[in-house]
Amino acid sequence: MQDPTASSRIAGFHKLGIPQRIDAVARFAGLDDADRQHLADTGNLPADLAGHLIENVIGTMNIPVGVATNMKIDGRDRLIPMATEESSVVAAVCNAARQCYENGGFTTSMSGTQMIAQIQLAGVPDPEHARIRILERREEIRALCDGCDPVLVRLGGGFRDLEVRVLGTRGGAMVITHLVVDTRDAMGANAVNTMAETLAPHIAAWTGGQTNLRILSNLADRRLARARCVWRLQDLGGAEVRDAMLAAYHFADADPYRAATHNKGIMNGISAVVLATGNDTRAVEAGAHAYAARGGRYASLTAWEVTHGGDLAGVIELPMAVGLIGGATKLHPTARLALRILGVASAEELARVIAAVGLAQNFSALKALATTGIQKGHMALHAHNIAMMAGATGDEIEPLARRLVALGTVRIDVAQAELAVLRG
Ligand code: MEV
Repeated sequence: MQDPTASSRIAGFHKLGIPQRIDAVARFAGLDDADRQHLADTGNLPADLAGHLIENVIGTMNIPVGVATNMKIDGRDRLIPMATEESSVVAAVCNAARQCYENGGFTTSMSGTQMIAQIQLAGVPDPEHARIRILERREEIRALCDGCDPVLVRLGGGFRDLEVRVLGTRGGAMVITHLVVDTRDAMGANAVNTMAETLAPHIAAWTGGQTNLRILSNLADRRLARARCVWRLQDLGGAEVRDAMLAAYHFADADPYRAATHNKGIMNGISAVVLATGNDTRAVEAGAHAYAARGGRYASLTAWEVTHGGDLAGVIELPMAVGLIGGATKLHPTARLALRILGVASAEELARVIAAVGLAQNFSALKALATTGIQKGHMALHAHNIAMMAGATGDEIEPLARRLVALGTVRIDVAQAELAVLRG
């Protein structure tokens, strides 16, 4: 039992070793020995490594990694590792990919691997002049940026472009500088943040203003991943299904309430691959949703049309700031294995695969929603979770889950009653 008066002010908590932190948390929260052992078991992520990835570590959180089969991308078959706690997500990708496999699968492309860092400048009386003065320093800025990361430059990356805008804000006019930097196989946050921080004092000196924020933008619209695919009428189930799917897409594209759910489904697939490869799910999600609203209204990340031949064509385009080097991608043993299973040789290749997964996910969601509804497929898997929540273990789980599906009521109270029957 937790003592409600226990203090969360634990001096030096960050300096403790993991076992001592577990002790402190156990005292605070009233955890028993079994709880402590559970936390101490970090599975296939060594505790030491976990302790170096984030602060104040007391354990790890295992998420299932599934593999999506049937994916053919740019003529090559791929197995796609996906880390997700949500049932039906992996199955959805497999199903969509199976239905377009014979027609050639997915074709992908990418706009580039450029990230944007922003520098905020305020307090200049002549913002238009300041803007031009900054633009005049382009070559100096290039040298300063590239000087921050000679390794990146050696690998073919580095400063690419300079954009400066005068932004009207509630606090008056600000001058916003964008450093456009090719970060190649790195997601690039560290590289561009260092450049922005290095450059900021120079911008302040050149303009007489005050620089404030110096940070990347997650609206990585110089790093757009694209995928397209055609599902043949006979493979997807006929014109009625196709037209219902199209109507579902039209609804999403016209209505932000629906678009949020439509895009959430897309991100089910995308975030699962981003997570499995040790990349930053929040960065990709922020970029995706900001991009979905680029027209001034939040809309669909995919577009669906009927081809000349009457087949269903889908496309997706969204920012995809993922990397192969740096952070958890390089350090997390499961992420490294996921990348080997994927067999990608560059961040661009990874981004393109992820875009294809997003499109596949959307196809399956639209099809399920426009035909039988998602609960039928979802419930079969969900029934296993409910069976376990009701207390079923081992050999009891499967028959109980099947019974719940057969009854058409996948609910915890029904599961408990049925488990009692099963146990006689
Ligand atoms: C559920 O996690 C995702 C869906 O709601 C997506 C959609 O509605 O398109 C099924």
